Amino acid sequence: MPKLNIALIGAGRRGAGSHLPVISKLKDTYNLVAICDIDEKSAIQHAEKYRVNAYTSVRDLVEKEQLDVVDITVPGVAHHAVTCFVANAGISVICETPIAVSLPMADLMIETANKNNVKLEIAENYYRAPKERFLSEVINAGIIGDVSRIYRIFYEGGYHGMSMLRLRTNGNPKSILGISQVSPIIPIIDRMKRYHTSDKWSFGFLEFDNNSTAIMIYSNVIHARSLGRGQNGISQIDGSQGTIVGEEIHIVHQENIETGATSTGYLPQRVMVDINGVQVIDKIKLELPNQQVQWDNPFKNYQLSEGQIAVADELLSIANAIIQDTDPEYGAIPARQDQEMNIGMNESAQRNRETIPFPIIDPTETETKIHENYEREYGHPIDDVEAGIDTFFPRR
Ligand SMILES: NC(=O)c1ccc[n+]([C@@H]2O[C@H](COP(=O)([O-])OP(=O)(O)OC[C@H]3O[C@@H](n4cnc5c(N)ncnc54)[C@H](O)[C@@H]3O)[C@@H](O)[C@H]2O)c1
Repeated sequence: MPKLNIALIGAGRRGAGSHLPVISKLKDTYNLVAICDIDEKSAIQHAEKYRVNAYTSVRDLVEKEQLDVVDITVPGVAHHAVTCFVANAGISVICETPIAVSLPMADLMIETANKNNVKLEIAENYYRAPKERFLSEVINAGIIGDVSRIYRIFYEGGYHGMSMLRLRTNGNPKSILGISQVSPIIPIIDRMKRYHTSDKWSFGFLEFDNNSTAIMIYSNVIHARSLGRGQNGISQIDGSQGTIVGEEIHIVHQENIETGATSTGYLPQRVMVDINGVQVIDKIKLELPNQQVQWDNPFKNYQLSEGQIAVADELLSIANAIIQDTDPEYGAIPARQDQEMNIGMNESAQRNRETIPFPIIDPTETETKIHENYEREYGHPIDDVEAGIDTFFPRR
């Protein structure tokens, strides 16, 4: 099978820290040809490390290299500009999360990819983590019956959190109620090198079209495990026959149904394997009295750490879509929907807890402000893609 020529745009924390090490391990699929970053020092440093060409301009990269796909890891506010420019050059894109910071920006990306007949994948990684893939197997096998309620507290928030809730309920969101509260903290830099001056706490209550509901609570400080908060995430998935509490799967056996309906808890087992001297996750399995469910690591020969598996998974999703001319596994429409749920939650909180129905038709006040701030800060409107790619988008 021919290899795909790939370049990375935005060699910052996520691009250089998580994507490049994985791309360089997927040697049978990808030929990394270039790294582009508007910050020259960063472009050269990483290009030298991977022995590829360095660029400081997306324009030059696209003009000079023969590319099948570009991996975009610039800040979220720049996703639309870089994606549209690259797609207009006929190159497929995998872009980091969120798809964009507003729905009109996401729509620009989706329209431009469609118009140019290129593939667009969004690097949503949470559901691709081994333990989540395993839980998907458990739920799809009907072990806990139909999912009715989800509590996801002090885990990832925003579009990541929404994507997990949508996946686990297997429904389309009908409406959301959001509450938020901002409280000051001593200024800190968290372990992800993000600067925080406040604890931005949010609560979301979601209703889905299949009658399931979900509650999530998140805070920027909890996510980063800073200020000592966030050690205990609470995750519970209630089904019609059982519950998943954290990693433990609880089932009520037939003989107990009419005598208290108390459950038996089962913990999954992680099985490791030695691949050429490296310990790699082989499978996660659940053994029940009459049934076994398991997730097998399809990437074990790449010798990836557990954290790298989700990144490999998304990178191979766009590769398969290009090679087999199919849709990427997650794709831009679900990514837009997850961001729509997130925007809806924030809008509800802004509007004094008014429930927001889906779909959101017109730009919300928050999005209009995002567009105004963008124009004020960067000196061009959101749809000026040419100006966008030449703009430096600083770290937030
Ligand atoms: N999926 C996840 O779990 C996850 C985690 C962290 C970050 N992210 C996403 O990854 C993306 C990058 O985040 P980060 O924390 O690495 O940001 P960052 O600021 O560390 O890196 C961004 C890089 O883009 C470069 N850049 C800015 N404007 C550019 C332009 N016009 N052309 C070329 N390069 C340009 C910057 O110089 C910088 O090196 C964001 O979209 C973020 O939301 C996702």
